[in-house]
Amino acid sequence: MWKGRFQQETSALLQQYSESISFDWRLWRHDIAGSIAHSAALEKAGLLTPEERAQIVAGLQEIGAEIEAGKFSFKSELEDIHMNIEAELTRRIGAAGAKLHTARSRNDQVALDLRLYLRDEADALAAALRAMQRALVALGARHADVIIPGYTHLQRAQPVYFAHHLLAYVEMFDRDRERVLDARKRLNVMPLGSGAIAGSTILLDRELIARELDFPAITQNSMDAVSDRDFAVELLSALALAAVHLSRLSEDVILWASSEFRFITISDAFTTGSSLMPQKKNPDVAELTRGKAGRVIGNLVSLLTTLKGLPMTYNRDMQEDKEPVFDSVDTIKAALAVFAAMLDGISANAVACAAAVADPMLLATDLADYLVNRGIPFRQAHEVIGKAVALCADKRCELPDLTLADYQALSPAFTADVFACLSVATSMNARQAIGAPSPQNVAAQLARWQAALR
Ligand code: ARG
Repeated sequence: MWKGRFQQETSALLQQYSESISFDWRLWRHDIAGSIAHSAALEKAGLLTPEERAQIVAGLQEIGAEIEAGKFSFKSELEDIHMNIEAELTRRIGAAGAKLHTARSRNDQVALDLRLYLRDEADALAAALRAMQRALVALGARHADVIIPGYTHLQRAQPVYFAHHLLAYVEMFDRDRERVLDARKRLNVMPLGSGAIAGSTILLDRELIARELDFPAITQNSMDAVSDRDFAVELLSALALAAVHLSRLSEDVILWASSEFRFITISDAFTTGSSLMPQKKNPDVAELTRGKAGRVIGNLVSLLTTLKGLPMTYNRDMQEDKEPVFDSVDTIKAALAVFAAMLDGISANAVACAAAVADPMLLATDLADYLVNRGIPFRQAHEVIGKAVALCADKRCELPDLTLADYQALSPAFTADVFACLSVATSMNARQAIGAPSPQNVAAQLARWQAALR
C-alpha cells in the first residue's frame, strides 16, 4: 500500500512484529460501516459515480458476510483490518476499490473504528451492569428477612440486613453504568475527515458521514482527532473501577462461603472441587474475578503509559491501545455475566446468619445511644459502655448477662428497660434515617430497585 517510495520488501520480521490483524480483525464490522459512510461522501463530492459507489457497498457487504461466516482469510502481510478489507475489495472490484481511500488515512480510520466499537460495547456493558444489579436485588429480595453482622476492619460492627449489604453493590454498579454511559457521550464524536493529521485538500461532507454513522457531533480539530485516545482511557477507567467493585464483592462472597462464616451456600454449578481434598467446594468464580481485576486495572495503566510520552499526533505506539481495550471489555462482560449467574444460585444460610447476628456486642453502640437518650453526652456514654464491655470480658459473659446493679454501678442513668434495647429487632427498627437499614427502608429500597431495573 506504500510501495511507491520503497525499493526493498518489508522484512518478514518487521511484518510479524507490526501486524495488528491478529487482534484488530474484530473491528471489521465498524471498518466496513465507516467505509460505506465514507463512500457516500466521496460520491457526493463527485469522486465516485453512483455505479462505483454501488460496487463498493456491495463488495464491502460481501466481504462482511464472509468474515461473519468465518470464511474470510486475513493476511498478516496486509498488517491491519483496514488494509485487509481495502485490498480484498480492490482485488474484487478493481478501480472503484482503489478510490475508496481518497481523503482518508488509516489514522482517522482507526480512530473512527475504535469509537464505533466502543460505542457498541458501552451499550453492551451498560446492559451487563443492569443484569448484575438485577441479580443482586433478586438475591436480596429472596432473603429479605436475613440479618447479618456488618463489618468494619473485618471486625463485627453492627447488624445489617443481608439485602442492605447487597444493595450497597447495586449502588456501586449503578455509578459504574453511569460512568460507562458518560464516557460514551465523549466517544460518540465522528473523527473521519481528519486524514493523517491535517484533513485533506479534497473537501468531503463530514456532516453527511456523521449522519450515516449516527454520530451527533464531529471532531473540530484534525490533530486532536487522530491523536486522541482519551475516550478509550475513560472507558478503561470506568471498567477498572467496575473491576474493583466486582473484586470487593468477590472478597465478600469468598468470606461468606467459608466455613468460618457460612453465611451463604453457592450452587454446585458455580463452584469447583479439589483434585486432592474431597471435602472442598471452592468459590472459583469470585476468586477468578478478584484476580482478573488486577489485569483490568493494568490495562488502564498500560494505555495511560503508552500515551504519556507521545508527541502530537498519531504515533505507531497507538496501535498498542487495542489489546488492553479489548481485554478489559471482554473481561468485564464475562465477569458480569458469570457473576450474575452465580448470584442466582446463591442461598443465604438463615441459621448461621442468625447465630452470628445474635452476638450481643453488635448492640454495644445501641446501649450508648440508650444513655444519650437519657441525657448523657455521647463521649461519656461511649466510655461507660466501654467499661461494661470490659466487665463482660472479666466476667466472661455477654452484655445481657450483666445485672441491672452492674449497669447502675457504671451509670445511675440505667433503669430496668436497658435490657429491652439489647434486641436486634429493636435495633433495626430504630435505624430509620434515609439510607439506614430499618426494615421499612430496606424493603423500600428493594422495591425502588426492582421498579428501576424492570
Ligand atoms: N494498525 C494501526 C493502528 O492500529 C492503524 C493506523 C496505522 N497508521 C499508520 N500511519 N501506520 O494504530
